[in-house]
Amino acid sequence: MRRGLFVTFEGSEGCGKSTQIRHLAAWLASVDKQCVTTREPGGTPAGDEIRHLLQHAPQGHGLVSEAELLLFAASRAQLVRELILPSLADGKVVVSDRFHDSTTVYQGVARRLEAPIVASINNFAIDGCCPDITFLLDMDAGEAHARLQKRERPADRMESEPPAFYQAVRGGYLKLAASEPARFAVLDATLPEEELSARVRAILQEKFHGFFAR
Ligand code: TMP
Repeated sequence: MRRGLFVTFEGSEGCGKSTQIRHLAAWLASVDKQCVTTREPGGTPAGDEIRHLLQHAPQGHGLVSEAELLLFAASRAQLVRELILPSLADGKVVVSDRFHDSTTVYQGVARRLEAPIVASINNFAIDGCCPDITFLLDMDAGEAHARLQKRERPADRMESEPPAFYQAVRGGYLKLAASEPARFAVLDATLPEEELSARVRAILQEKFHGFFAR
């Protein structure tokens, strides 16, 4: 049985997901909620190997979009069964930096793979383990790219796409969020860090007051 809470963060590279996840994990600890943070691709030993191939290994550079889709799905299938479902059964809050919506948008919209195929592979990988809430940190694609360039590390394979790719990603996310308003909370990623984290907390407390009152 699923007693915990499954929270995901989505958005373009450079939108501040990892900072917000750090704030959220610290707050959850302060209100005595056990929290597991994870990320995609990765989050398990096998998933981390897949992440390396997808993002950093030279062997990943020739990956075709179809293989890329299946590798993201393989990492997710493992993460769901090895970490997410057991943690939710234990009553924990699972916070994931990206989940199946990334595949819908990056592989389905930006890479233009057929939507029904992407949806069917996503469903197979997650087997009904859908997030309770998804925070979309929305930001202009050009601004997100400028933030990325300020980072000290070099861009990885997925961060080296042309600007049109990231515009498609942003548009894809906004359309997806509009199609599932009950699950998505769209937030302006350019807000000051503290203000954004306060909004995340307020939305969680309002939407899941029963869980936080326990
Ligand atoms: P990140 O560490 O910035 O989240 O990098 C993950 C990259 O992989 C990012 O460019 C988005 C991309 N990605 C997909 O294309 N499809 C997916 O399903 C996932 C989880 C990530």
